[in-house]
Amino acid sequence: MIRPVFWEEDHVVLLDQTRLPWEERWLCLRRWEEVAEAIRTMKVRGAPAIGIAAAYGLVLAALRPKPGRTPAEEFQEAREGLGKTRPTAVNLFWALERMSRTLQGCDIEEELPERLLSEAKRIHEEDIAANLRMGELGAELLPEGVRVLTICNTGALATGGHGTALGVVRTAWAKGKLRMVYVCETRPVLQGARLTAWELLREGIPFKILADFASGLLFRRREVDVVLSGADRIARNGDFANKVGTYVLALLAQRHRVPFYVVAPSSTFDLGLSSEEGIPIEERPEEEVLRPYGFPLAPEGARAWNPAFDLTPGELVTAFVTEKGVIRPPYAHTIPETFSR
Ligand code: MRU
Repeated sequence: MIRPVFWEEDHVVLLDQTRLPWEERWLCLRRWEEVAEAIRTMKVRGAPAIGIAAAYGLVLAALRPKPGRTPAEEFQEAREGLGKTRPTAVNLFWALERMSRTLQGCDIEEELPERLLSEAKRIHEEDIAANLRMGELGAELLPEGVRVLTICNTGALATGGHGTALGVVRTAWAKGKLRMVYVCETRPVLQGARLTAWELLREGIPFKILADFASGLLFRRREVDVVLSGADRIARNGDFANKVGTYVLALLAQRHRVPFYVVAPSSTFDLGLSSEEGIPIEERPEEEVLRPYGFPLAPEGARAWNPAFDLTPGELVTAFVTEKGVIRPPYAHTIPETFSR
């Protein structure tokens, strides 16, 4: 199983996703600032993977405080710095909060790095277990010979391993249920064309990449049976943020009566938000649109607007697949109920 981020001896190892598929470059990070930079520049990306990387980043902070600082002081600084990297994925803040509770529960300072490392590894392992469970639950929802449409990368690369929406694809493939995966290329950073394609090729799963707006014709021709999406933050009523372009797919799915499933672990639910209203949408550098990977696509002087995510109302979601079970509407009732059990 691909693990895009893990702990080795006294440092974090991370697969640089900005270099895929051209090069498999593994980075060894020894300072929390390097982890923060890797998250900000999307060397590691995908909501669960961001949370896991940040948790390991906090271990680095406690392990190597700057001169004159205690491990706990460095931890607090790192918590703040890591929290400023990417605002939308709630998994980041969930992981920072969980690690802070370990800090608060640790009375013996010398034990802090070890205690934090155990918690970070637990977060990582729990994420993989959740993905495998969601894979099973999600695959059960799919008909035999299913043709899936997906966006962005929600695979092993975006998580601790296995994946969320792409984890369902993996499990469905292993069960012999899957006919084809249609992969939206996912402008402007191309997580679909670069990363999802890389993962599917490695496993021999049949797929085709589409220019994002070719999906309309795919629906009209009835060549898609199900849409599988991940999420970066889900409010109590089922409104959610995900990679920009998701909302359009949800509208198309509704129009063509195709089920639209969101696959996400409990760490992606923000039960403090009653609707999409409070979900922050990250805006990324114009360069990603104007000069993707250094190629000057637009004329010199052109400006761009680059929201990394969009918002989809819960009413367009057929069901949420979580490790706690499949959640169906009415979400304002069923989501809080599922997580209070
Ligand atoms: O900007 P990214 O690549 O971090 O965006 C990722 C997504 O939008 C994913 O769909 C989401 O994080 C879920 S990943 C399991």
